[in-house]
Amino acid sequence: MHREDFPMLNNDIIYFDNGATSFKPQVVIDKIKEYYETYSANAHRGDYDISFKVDLEYEAAREKVVNFINAKEKSEVVFTSGTTDSLNMIVNGFFAPIMEKGDEIVITRSEHASNVLPWFRLAKEKGCVIKYIPLDDDYHVTMDNLKKVITPNTKVISLAAITNVIGDVRPIKEITKFAHEHNIFVVVDGAQSVAHMKTDVQDLDIDFLAFSAHKMLGPTGVGVLYGKKELLEALEPTNLGGGMNEAFDNEYSVILKDLPTRLEAGTPNIAGVIGLGAAIDYLNSIGMDKIRDRELELREYLIEKLIKIPHIDIINVEADSGIVSFNVDGVFSQDVAYYLNKYNICVRAGNHCAKILKNAIGVTNSIRVSLYFYNTENEIDSLIELLKDKEKIEEEMI
Ligand code: ALA
Repeated sequence: MHREDFPMLNNDIIYFDNGATSFKPQVVIDKIKEYYETYSANAHRGDYDISFKVDLEYEAAREKVVNFINAKEKSEVVFTSGTTDSLNMIVNGFFAPIMEKGDEIVITRSEHASNVLPWFRLAKEKGCVIKYIPLDDDYHVTMDNLKKVITPNTKVISLAAITNVIGDVRPIKEITKFAHEHNIFVVVDGAQSVAHMKTDVQDLDIDFLAFSAHKMLGPTGVGVLYGKKELLEALEPTNLGGGMNEAFDNEYSVILKDLPTRLEAGTPNIAGVIGLGAAIDYLNSIGMDKIRDRELELREYLIEKLIKIPHIDIINVEADSGIVSFNVDGVFSQDVAYYLNKYNICVRAGNHCAKILKNAIGVTNSIRVSLYFYNTENEIDSLIELLKDKEKIEEEMI
């Protein structure tokens, strides 16, 4: 679907690593090029035409994000360098100042490093406790299991909406409802979800959401921190510098700008933000429901074929996303990835930055196929042909 829009798809490769990053359509590339070629000025600083144009485009991109995730207003959308940056800002800027010894942070063992390590450090520094929601037999989060780890000391639940190895879609709306009834904040890592399904922060009642442009057809190095306005007002800027202050003097008094600029110190990734705006326009032109439906169709097709291969162990047969993780019996996952690479097939292998997942599922490494709407059944057939023949894999893997 829409393959002609993606220059990378002319390179004779089969790309199944969309969970790591997505390809960019020509319209996104053109939009970035246009900025560098015709109005390459700084943002929020210049008193001349090309700088005014930057401000208009930059703020128009913010408006696009607001509409895309259904935030209430522009002050709730902060541009960051990506999901990792957003999550670190949330943990260090909002939670670090309010967390106390004994407070509990609820996550799962299938979270990505960026939704684990900032909490680990906070827990260590403040004497907080990390609690893990037990995963069910399919490695999913259930409300019953979530409730088992909640105590009067629980301050925050921080979960990916879709995880990057198991690919399970979490029941975020039910989680926020339960959490808010118990005065618990909910942080959502949207890195693997925002590009793949409709996200409505008001309907889901999410407190904070983090996501990256590059996994949603946009450029690398830019992402979003969404927060409910009253919560972002309380988030201490973790970066101080130009652009975010209104005034300062010799007596150390600093007046900060209003949201969201207050949380965007320094020259922002202007081309990145504008490119993200173009990516959102492109996604909207297809429609998020259509994108999700197509991915689920491709997933079903892949699972149906993969399940028939006796030497393949699928880790996440049950998951409602385009992420399929598996292993070839007795073959190291990275060797399989090298083997597939010989045939120009790109998959990710290893632990996928979800390094405590092994404690929940007993598998350290896996091969991950992460699909996007521009993948095809033919591409899946090529993968299956190569995986079918175990002898060939063993012969050719090195
Ligand atoms: N977080 C990205 C992935 O899962 C890089 O591959």
